[in-house]
Amino acid sequence: MAAGKGTRMKSRIPKVLQRLAHKPLVLHVIATAQQLQARKAVVITGHGAQTVEAALAGQGGALDLAFVRQEPQLGTGHAVQQAVPVLADDGVVVVLSGDVPLTQAATLQALIALCAGKHLALLTIDLPDPTGYGRVVRSGEVVQAIVEHKDASAEQRAITEIYSGIMAVPAALLKGWLARLDNRNAQGEYYLTDIVKFAVQDGVTVLAQKTTDAVQVAGINSPQQLAELERSFQHRQALALMEAGVRLADPARLDVRGRLVCGTDVEIDVNCIFEGEVSLGDGVRIGAHCVVANCSIAANAVIHPFTHIDGGTQSVTVGEGALIGPFARLRPGAQLGAQVHIGNFVEVKNSTLADGAKANHLAYLGDATVGERVNYGAGSITANYDGANKHRTVIEADVHVGSNCVLVAPVTLGAGSTIGGGSTITKDVPAGALGVARGKQAVLTGWTRPVKAKK
Ligand code: UD1
Ligand code: CA
Repeated sequence: MAAGKGTRMKSRIPKVLQRLAHKPLVLHVIATAQQLQARKAVVITGHGAQTVEAALAGQGGALDLAFVRQEPQLGTGHAVQQAVPVLADDGVVVVLSGDVPLTQAATLQALIALCAGKHLALLTIDLPDPTGYGRVVRSGEVVQAIVEHKDASAEQRAITEIYSGIMAVPAALLKGWLARLDNRNAQGEYYLTDIVKFAVQDGVTVLAQKTTDAVQVAGINSPQQLAELERSFQHRQALALMEAGVRLADPARLDVRGRLVCGTDVEIDVNCIFEGEVSLGDGVRIGAHCVVANCSIAANAVIHPFTHIDGGTQSVTVGEGALIGPFARLRPGAQLGAQVHIGNFVEVKNSTLADGAKANHLAYLGDATVGERVNYGAGSITANYDGANKHRTVIEADVHVGSNCVLVAPVTLGAGSTIGGGSTITKDVPAGALGVARGKQAVLTGWTRPVKAKK
């Protein structure tokens, strides 16, 4: 169900597209359905239907993703009714909400097992404050009905066991019950929860699986709830990383917005953000305040504080034992070999640096191929863009580029050549040669400085 408006988000973006860990809420739900190896996932859209459908197109992976529209929105029962034409008669339907992102596949597996192809299985939870939720009414242990808060008697409102919004139900039974729904209730809505009453009437066993994990059934209605659930999610990820041996300076100051794979003896200091696909080899250390996205960092590399790495769609690789930062920036297509050093205020884009190459201070390498052991001086840059096209700079092994050089691409510096500081290099420099391109120094002895004119 992803048709609801989400008024309390006070946003133009449909609620189910609000992001948790950088991923739209509804995509978390779809990912869970993928893990269940569901035959089909039907997304019921309404508010912002086009936007939601566009955001989900092609995101199903192996899952067969179908969309149905619910317009207008007349309640959860009415929502599920819209899916009836695209649901097969055999099999089990699991009803999920697009704004409840953190339900685990194992929890749903257990619910499906409880349903066993013939029962109505409800996921429930005891809440200290059940206000607003549907109450699970039992007689003895047997579930009799779900009564919505607005329809409940004072006695029923005292019940703390609530329906989570998640159920597993045989498709054929569900279809029959949906056809019997009406909207004669306090909200004038078609309540999905009324099917419990029909199950009881039909002699179908209704089973409730009570969870104690509120995070798994928590729905998002407001920015506050979104932020709270984000913290819960991040805390769980931090715990899982530590469980796997990763040393986090502070589990409360880590954000993983994607997938972080770590070797042994990885250390991560405070306030680091990982995005997309990141892998850290054995013994990698990440300093404080780094943003690391879409990259692969080999064993024993050290990323010093305040470094920004973003491989985008092209990825970044950092070789074994490399030292990066502090204050370094690695952009898409930076491929750094073993023992490479990238120091403060150095930017690398779409460039390959072979083993042992160094650029330690205030430099730019864009569209460059840099050989082994090259030393790239402070303040030097590749002028890779002529205003229309990008060109490559080739710096062969053991080249020494002095400080404050401009390498105007396309240009090649031969192996072992030396470039004098302050040069603007526009022509190739042969192997072993010295290339200098700057004004000759003039020295005037006995020079008198100008003095201020007297009034
Ligand atoms: C529903 C349950 C309630 C349960 C609660 C858990 C019903 C009648 N009540 O409450 O027992 O305790 O969830 O959170 O089912 N939606 C649609 N179309 C609609 C209405 C809702 O797609 O016409 C979607 C919403 O976007 C949301 C989900 O269904 O993702 C649940 O709707 P919401 O209004 O939050 O739940 P309630 O009806 O209040
Ligand atoms: Ca409602």
